[in-house]
Amino acid sequence: QLSPAIEAARSLIRTIPDYPKQGVQFRDITPLMADAQALRDCVEALIEPFSGRFDLVAGVEARGFLLAGSAAMVAGVGLAPLRKAGKLPRPAASVNYDLEYGTATIEASEDIIPGMRVLLLDDVLATGGTLAAGRALIEKMGAEVAGTAVLMELEGLGGRTLVPEVHALFSM
Ligand code: PRP
Repeated sequence: QLSPAIEAARSLIRTIPDYPKQGVQFRDITPLMADAQALRDCVEALIEPFSGRFDLVAGVEARGFLLAGSAAMVAGVGLAPLRKAGKLPRPAASVNYDLEYGTATIEASEDIIPGMRVLLLDDVLATGGTLAAGRALIEKMGAEVAGTAVLMELEGLGGRTLVPEVHALFSM
């Protein structure tokens, strides 16, 4: 049972048929992000279960950055980007993970400090590979994953198997 605010935010998701390939329904979050009330309601709902239990917000490139920046400001904590390979000038740690075709790498800077409690945010949970890698990366830095939260969980892709503890505001 979604709250009226989250139901309203969910209704803003734009479905693009056959993108990026035939048969895929792309869930576009940009109308939600462009709506001031929906953005605020979602950011507050993402952090609420973890209130007072995290010292830093980490967001996964690129769409996770949009939420992480807002969430860090609202929560009054700092922000760390988990970046795709080759973007950070001096990565402190990296984790490889599997994609549908091939592999990917995410990297963190040394600003994620051992012992920190880190809230990990992204826009979407699909197969879960990205968030599982994000969690592994935070732990590799010696920090603690205080929680993992997304706007949206895509049904039928098995993401919850890889990331069972994820807090998802809604599913599609
Ligand atoms: C999308 C999305 C998540 C990830 C979810 O990112 O923003 O980060 O895929 O998929 P998974 O659960 O199967 O790992 P994408 O790689 O498209 O990057 P972008 O945010 O830069 O568009």
